Amino acid sequence: MLYKKIIRPLLFDYDPEKIHNFTIKMLSGGIAPGILRMMFKFESEKLNVKAGKLSFRNPIGLAAGMDKNCSAMQGWDAMGFGFAEAGTVTPLPQEGNEKPRMFRLPEFGGIINRLGFNNCGADEFEENLKQTKENLPNDFIVGVNIGKNKRTELDDAYQDYKFSFEKCFEHADYFAINVSSPNTEGLRQLQQKKFLDEILRSLQGLNKELDETYSDSTKDIFLKIAPDLTEAELDDIIQVSVDNNITGIIATNTTISRATLPEGNYESGGLSGKPLEPISNSVIKYVKKHAGDKLAVIACGGISTYDDVKEKLDFGASLVQIYTGLIYEGPGLVKRIKQKMAAN
Ligand SMILES: Cc1cc2nc3c(=O)[nH]c(=O)nc-3n(C[C@H](O)[C@H](O)[C@H](O)COP(=O)(O)O)c2cc1C
Repeated sequence: MLYKKIIRPLLFDYDPEKIHNFTIKMLSGGIAPGILRMMFKFESEKLNVKAGKLSFRNPIGLAAGMDKNCSAMQGWDAMGFGFAEAGTVTPLPQEGNEKPRMFRLPEFGGIINRLGFNNCGADEFEENLKQTKENLPNDFIVGVNIGKNKRTELDDAYQDYKFSFEKCFEHADYFAINVSSPNTEGLRQLQQKKFLDEILRSLQGLNKELDETYSDSTKDIFLKIAPDLTEAELDDIIQVSVDNNITGIIATNTTISRATLPEGNYESGGLSGKPLEPISNSVIKYVKKHAGDKLAVIACGGISTYDDVKEKLDFGASLVQIYTGLIYEGPGLVKRIKQKMAAN
């Protein structure tokens, strides 16, 4: 109530990316995480869930892109998320696309972004990850979402994924392979069988090698896919994912479609939030129907209420992730969802 009536109107008066950067700064230290922890503390064993080799204290996660440099993990833990996916990180630092590149669509509960993988690069990211893991409780899972640099040719893309995978292996709880952001030219072509098989095969090879070095266990790998794929493309993705023995699919990234918005002139980029929900839901249902228990699903797209979460879990998803809903509903959203889940 307080957030929607007072805080949100104030924040929405300013440029979205400036507010984003301010929020990350607030959450990355100082007193904010402590205050959030006090306000939003709520756990229940009823919410515990397993996916792959990992045990999650609850199934509500922060989606990738919010914390690109892994610098505010204490904040997401304090807000009550069960897990957070940091990144997308690329081997080398990148500025991303020209500003402005992030736009709110308040009348539709959506956001359009064309950030283009602005991030600090794998070296600094790994430092942040290592430091933050030392200060986080063991039951808070941190995923690392990896992508390719803008300048890397598609044929060499697998090398970029291997680089960040190796760099972050020791401290990541799981990896998300991002081949679906619409703001890096050509990236989504990596969802094609030939590229995808090369990427997943080489990562699983490395996974086994590194497992021996660190003598812990191989890491769970999830593939993050676009919502704008044909059924034939989805069939290929499912097949390649199962063949390479990855843990699951994150469905979905943002959409390039504007079909769920009224006709109009919209900014270019990836659309998230409510207008994405029906599109991502059909992908989630399709993947679950055709992959069954062979692939776990992390469902993402348009979640802003408990009912949205329940719907996605009813489709068979193991976990969910939220980005845009947090901006529209505020930090109390996670606790509200968890309280309802525990009561039902
Ligand atoms: C501003 C913004 C930046 C994003 N950046 C990334 C990113 O770097 N990597 C990624 O895999 N997804 C990124 N996403 C996509 C989200 O992780 C998520 O898949 C998508 O927004 C759908 O969820 P939502 O409707 O809850 O926002 C971004 C989304 C937004 C709104």
